[in-house]
Amino acid sequence: MKYHPISNQLFIKNRAKFTSFMKPKSIAIFNSNDIFITGADSALPFEQQRDLFYLSGVDQEESILVLFPDSINKENKEILFLKETNEHIAIWEGEKLTKEQATKTSGVKTIYWLQDFNKVFYDLMTEAETVYFNTNEHYRQSVEMETREDRFIKSCKAKFPAHKWEKSNQILQKLRGVKEPEEIDLMQTACNITEKGFRRILQFVKPGVMEYEIEAEFMHEFLWNRSKGFAYTPIIGSGFNACVLHYIQNNKECKDGDMLLLDVGAEYANYSSDMTRTIPVNGRFTDRQKAVYNAILRVKNEATKMLTPGTYWAEYHKEVGKIMTSELLGLGLIDKTDVKNEDPNWPAYKKYFMHGTSHHLGLDTHDYGALKTPMQAGMVFTVEPGIYIPEESLGIRIEDDVVIQQKGEPFNLMKNIPIEVEEIEDLMNS
Ligand code: GLY
Ligand code: MN
Ligand code: MN
Repeated sequence: MKYHPISNQLFIKNRAKFTSFMKPKSIAIFNSNDIFITGADSALPFEQQRDLFYLSGVDQEESILVLFPDSINKENKEILFLKETNEHIAIWEGEKLTKEQATKTSGVKTIYWLQDFNKVFYDLMTEAETVYFNTNEHYRQSVEMETREDRFIKSCKAKFPAHKWEKSNQILQKLRGVKEPEEIDLMQTACNITEKGFRRILQFVKPGVMEYEIEAEFMHEFLWNRSKGFAYTPIIGSGFNACVLHYIQNNKECKDGDMLLLDVGAEYANYSSDMTRTIPVNGRFTDRQKAVYNAILRVKNEATKMLTPGTYWAEYHKEVGKIMTSELLGLGLIDKTDVKNEDPNWPAYKKYFMHGTSHHLGLDTHDYGALKTPMQAGMVFTVEPGIYIPEESLGIRIEDDVVIQQKGEPFNLMKNIPIEVEEIEDLMNS
């Protein structure tokens, strides 16, 4: 792991919160992700299953966490099962967690090797009545592949057909949506690393550079700062490419006079940052670019003010739509007739701003979190309005990450990342 060790108090707290929602005589199981094979003997870098990480801090493949608060044997209230290392693994793959290190990382005292799982688990299941399975119920999930968790659920149901089943996901969505102070610190670190990357490329971008060269500059800065890289595939789109919402080819030349959209965030300790800045390739905004940019900045600032406890996500989006409508009228992109005749299900502003304004951010970039109940202090949201005008080859989005506070406006984790037109121009020309 490149990141500094995280205090196990965070994971101890997270488990205590989770188990407080479990039914009597119930057991919960969390499996790590598989390692994804690309072909032959090559694999993608391992990414830990985020719930397992949230509850244990274990960042290693072939790991299982079992929570059984009502276990008769107190030692079995929390158990980690880990891959046992050996000389071969030590030489070919390097260090894996020892039992002592696993306890230090997670705060879990009972550690078994994975080969003991079936025997130990069978014994626990004879005491348990209800089993919590960790299915993925994210509102945007679309996973076709069978995960390690899915395989476990299948085999567990076949072996223990008389138990009752519950789902962990509702509990996790509620918990992971409200961040602990330690998590906010980790996310602040991720945002600070992103800031370094952005400041670096402000000195680098000029007409003629390739989008992938900018991607490389970000990656350089991220790795230097203990991030393993991008929190999500970066979007580095100049000119018309900025109007393609999920443009990830990043393979074109940045041309004089074009704007360059950078939707780029570093991860740190598996936590995401999610930034968008849009800058002029030649270091100077034209009047038109500045007008569109400042309209979006106003929308972002007004939207941010609404992110307070009690706000409903759906209502918030409607309000942001109204602000955007007025800015688009001001820019002459839509007119009053468009608004008068608009379809309430697809308002006129959607022609130029067709995506959402905010999503939860955390261990996943589009993180878990309650969306139908009022917002709460400790939730972290992005704020990311944009205007996309393909006929002008102009796409601008501005995105910050903010923490909802008990009182007042949210705290902006990206408050130090240059955003004003003058600031960006000064830095690009210094
Ligand atoms: N970078 C992904 C998003 O902004 O939602
Ligand atoms: Mn983004
Ligand atoms: Mn985002």
